[in-house]
Amino acid sequence: MEVFLGIAGASGAPYALGLARQLVAGGHTVGVSFTESGATVCGHELYGDLAMPRDEVIDRFIADAGLDPANVWAPKDYASPYASGSARWDAAVVVPCSMSTLATIAQGAEQNLVQRAANVALKEGRRLVIVPRETPLSLIQLENLTRLKRAGAEILPAMPAFYQLPSTLDDMVDFVVGKACNLLGIEQSSLAEWRGQRSALTDTR
Ligand SMILES: Cc1cc2nc3c(=O)[nH]c(=O)nc-3n(C[C@H](O)[C@H](O)[C@H](O)COP(=O)(O)O)c2cc1C
Repeated sequence: MEVFLGIAGASGAPYALGLARQLVAGGHTVGVSFTESGATVCGHELYGDLAMPRDEVIDRFIADAGLDPANVWAPKDYASPYASGSARWDAAVVVPCSMSTLATIAQGAEQNLVQRAANVALKEGRRLVIVPRETPLSLIQLENLTRLKRAGAEILPAMPAFYQLPSTLDDMVDFVVGKACNLLGIEQSSLAEWRGQRSALTDTR
């Protein structure tokens, strides 16, 4: 599969890195673009340096994920194949997705390659997974999420669960990464299926 990974400036950079690694491990072609703020937040959350230069953040991310440097695109590079519906890539995912990027995509507007690729996915009827991160949510933000869902996107809030009994932060990241892979239709090893067991909630049959 060929997947475009858009990284916007919401909290949740470890989800982006985890998903990139999982896609690379699965042998998928991964095109990547960071928004301006996306690289800044990655510098802070992954490398502990909010002021890390953009190029350095991106180089480290490429190395950490095992990405192809030739398939990492500048925010305004609309000559990228991910800006075009005629290029037959399969799906786009925006992780993490800021409220700003969410709002712009929901209006059908495009101010960078992440937003363009998301809108291309929608217009071409391809899978688009949005992983928003904000809390609490305003009515405007909720409406933007609803609007995108109606337009065909899958909304996967960056909302790890506890029922898998996570013991590390990586476990919690893996939960969201596994869910994103499931929505993309990609085999994953991050999240075990819950196959059910009897609980004390059911004392009768
Ligand atoms: C450390 C940090 C964390 C942030 N976390 C969030 C967040 O969780 N959600 C959000 O919508 N914006 C968050 N922001 C603000 C966005 O980065 C800001 O709105 C930016 O304009 C988004 O631009 P983009 O959508 O082009 O990436 C954060 C900013 C910083 C510096």
